[in-house]
Amino acid sequence: MLSRLLPLLLIPAAASAASDLVVMDFEGDSFGAWKASGEAFGKAPAKGTLDGQMPVSGFVGQGLLNGYHGGDDSTGSLESPAFKIERKYLNFLIGGGKFPGETCMDLLVDGKVVRTASGLYDRPGGAERLEWQGWDTSELIGKSATLRVTDKRKGTWGHINLDQIVQSDAPKVIEIKQEFAVNGRYLIWPVTRDASQKRRFFTYLDGAEQPLLYSDICLTNNPDFWVFTDLANYQGRKITVTGSVPGGLADAWSKVKISDTYPGEEETYREALRPQYHFTSRRGWLNDPNGLVWKDGTWHLFYQHNPYNHNWDNMTWGHATSTDLFHWKEQPSGLFPDAEGYMYSGSGIFAPKGSTGLPVKGDALVFTYTANGNHSYAPDHKVVQSVAYSEDGGKTLTKFAGNPVLPHVEAENRDPKVFWHAPTKHWIMPLYYDRSDYGIYSSPDMVKWEKTGDYKIPTDGECPDLYELPVGGSPKETRWIAWGAQGKYMLGSFDGRQFKAESGPHHHYFGAAYAGQTYDNAPEHRRVHIGWMRDGGPGLNGAPFNLQMTIPMDFTLRRQGDGLRLWAEPVKEVEALRADTKEWKDLVFESGQTDPLNDFKGGQFEVEAVIDANSNASELGFRIFDEHAALWKPSDKTFSGTEGPQAAVDGKLKVRIFVDTVSMEVFVNGTFTSKYLRQTPGAKPLRLVANGGQVKFDSLKVHTLKSVWK
Ligand code: FRU
Repeated sequence: MLSRLLPLLLIPAAASAASDLVVMDFEGDSFGAWKASGEAFGKAPAKGTLDGQMPVSGFVGQGLLNGYHGGDDSTGSLESPAFKIERKYLNFLIGGGKFPGETCMDLLVDGKVVRTASGLYDRPGGAERLEWQGWDTSELIGKSATLRVTDKRKGTWGHINLDQIVQSDAPKVIEIKQEFAVNGRYLIWPVTRDASQKRRFFTYLDGAEQPLLYSDICLTNNPDFWVFTDLANYQGRKITVTGSVPGGLADAWSKVKISDTYPGEEETYREALRPQYHFTSRRGWLNDPNGLVWKDGTWHLFYQHNPYNHNWDNMTWGHATSTDLFHWKEQPSGLFPDAEGYMYSGSGIFAPKGSTGLPVKGDALVFTYTANGNHSYAPDHKVVQSVAYSEDGGKTLTKFAGNPVLPHVEAENRDPKVFWHAPTKHWIMPLYYDRSDYGIYSSPDMVKWEKTGDYKIPTDGECPDLYELPVGGSPKETRWIAWGAQGKYMLGSFDGRQFKAESGPHHHYFGAAYAGQTYDNAPEHRRVHIGWMRDGGPGLNGAPFNLQMTIPMDFTLRRQGDGLRLWAEPVKEVEALRADTKEWKDLVFESGQTDPLNDFKGGQFEVEAVIDANSNASELGFRIFDEHAALWKPSDKTFSGTEGPQAAVDGKLKVRIFVDTVSMEVFVNGTFTSKYLRQTPGAKPLRLVANGGQVKFDSLKVHTLKSVWK
């Protein structure tokens, strides 16, 4: 009760506070009694952005002190006349370089520096936005003081900006340092979708010196939704959260707390836009699948994740597990941003006892990831490859103390996809460099890596996968597949050191899917692949989560038409989701005839059809919600959403279509395509199409699919 009353009690107190005393607002055409020297600050306040500067924002009124006169390399200083300290706080807006002593403002009393502040950035990136900072001056009340602004720094962020220096009764920013006893699963946060509102928080575990993680969170008093830091792995321990937020967010900060539930949890998986059998994250953004590994009946799906908003940010490895590739249970995140920077894409392997030089006692799961040091809060971190291991079946991941295992080699260098190569008894790591270039590294122990080769996937890039498949299921003849993020692949051979391409790039994977990878250690020699469906359609704006994975699929290698090609089939596990099935055999449908699917109600469904590829209609197949085509054109052998001609197999097209809340995926003779859609109200979920003729179905089945969340 008391805590609910508090904000009410605060309002009259705040209203009776004395208004701010302006020390300097940098309005007008001169610095008045302030003395400028050097060039950096010019001769008078600036009216905004200067030549060659990124747009300056966040200042109050028409003017500000802008240290970018003459660019970053100019230097200068500005000194105030003496003034009396009369309030408990001195607040100011500040931006520019974060170089203490070099780009800074000092408060001097009796000629000595008693407080100092510098700007926001010490490396390329960032923004010219001024933010509030301030000093507690309560112990200096009554003293005479001066302010001195200095710019001695050249090069990147070698300038400082200031505005609205005021004496106040309260801080404009609240410095946060709060300890929480972790006696509930989540630390919950109210957030706005407005990504410009982000504030940085650091979380320390049990008083450690180095933060466990940092997060940029759009804290707000009027939440669009609530997000959480999942602390299931830290129960019974203590965390300390530090950061600073504007004074106006005191109320929002007071709502950040430990809880076993998060507001909105009861609605999770029931939201209007929630896919019902595709993986989505309860909250936040997802991109690439990471660390796909099977062990002891469990499929692990780690993924690129922003747990705190709908956009790409805070790159964390989210984690979910399943025993059937459809019913996923979200686990606490596996890897968080820390001094290494963002946790970019990577892979997972099962490492039997003794197969690595990592400090593990028995069997382990080992994850190789890109640590993107460009996002580190600490200077001088690069983009490098690191490993983490788990001895509790993926529940907790421990970063190796000897990281990185591969220092920055070149360009973007990221997305390691490690696997075991039995003939050479080495671990192999294909790694993306830049453009269409990839490198290959080899290691006896996952710790020491040697470069052994390079290869290209022309017109593709990022997220390599490299694996061997038997031709037509017979282990006598095999090929290696070198795969890129768009699903283009080269076929060839691999001797443990070099990949030699024989043909490619081939392409059997189109539409929204991107950055997929296959499972390590899958049973029955399966090559199970999951991709990420990037946004190519109406998106999921308005939902507290964003984007989904593809349906899991099995890859095999088959001889088709003129050569060997990958063949994609939805995994057999999807069949367990089927609820009602309608079936037709030897159905001939002609344009103008009554559609046997007229009464079909939709929901989530699968279409399974074997079609005579030589049916005489000029375009034939299906339409989903009227707008979305899944159509074969016999004249040029093309299928909607795929590129180039597709080969019919024995004169037939085998089509599987999967429709979920916001997506549609089509498999046609081993080719896969996917897109996002919105279910148009009033439109027919599914129609047959036979333009200008007939379509002959050997068989047609329509299955409704159960939700995995109910
Ligand atoms: C692909 C990608 C990867 C990178 C990750 C970052 O979508 O750009 O190359 O590791 O996303 O989230």
